[in-house]
Amino acid sequence: MDALKFNKIAAAILCGGLLILGFGKLGSFLVHPNTSISNAYPIEVPDNAANAIKEVSVTVIEPILAMLSGANIEAGQKVAKKCSACHGFESGGANKVGPNLYDIIGREQAKAEFAYSKAFLAMSGQWSYEELNKFLYKPKEYVKGTKMNYAGLTKTNDRANLIAWLRTKSNKPVPLPGQ
Ligand code: HEC
Repeated sequence: MDALKFNKIAAAILCGGLLILGFGKLGSFLVHPNTSISNAYPIEVPDNAANAIKEVSVTVIEPILAMLSGANIEAGQKVAKKCSACHGFESGGANKVGPNLYDIIGREQAKAEFAYSKAFLAMSGQWSYEELNKFLYKPKEYVKGTKMNYAGLTKTNDRANLIAWLRTKSNKPVPLPGQ
């Protein structure tokens, strides 16, 4: 082997070595091998698994806006029988255990001539379709301390049908979404 050939081979080996080193460095630069994966997303696991389940369960009240235009108003009238022991729905009707609900959609909350609870008097919103939907799901969770003694309507269909019927109890019904 002459000296030149030897040099060429030596250079090739050296280059190969350098390339491997270089890619190694580049690779570690790209993937950050020093990042401690175990600490990246700490997840605390409580000792008591039952408690853990309670903590993560969140009530999602299904929205009803999209259901209103196709709702069954007659079915809604039947659901309203559950309310009629305490509420009247006709124009100019008297309050019963609860306030009269004629024209309730779009009305200010707790603004009828009625002796509301303190919890109700502290509210300042409007009875939009979605607020009614949330309230009727579980009234006592929506307004802690309300004197409306009613468990609520957990079936989304019942709430949508009832609210669609309530909407008709007005001389100027609030437009349905998208109309
Ligand atoms: C046991 C009696 C009772 C029943 C049943 C009942 N409510 Fe009520 N409702 C009340 C009372 C009392 C209030 C006033 C709450 C307060 O002041 O804390 C009220 C308040 C309301 C309000 C708020 C009115 C306002 O002026 O802001 C709405 C809306 C309502 N009820 C709808 C319903 C619907 C719909 C049903 C049937 C699914 C129903 N309620 C069933 C007693 C009742």
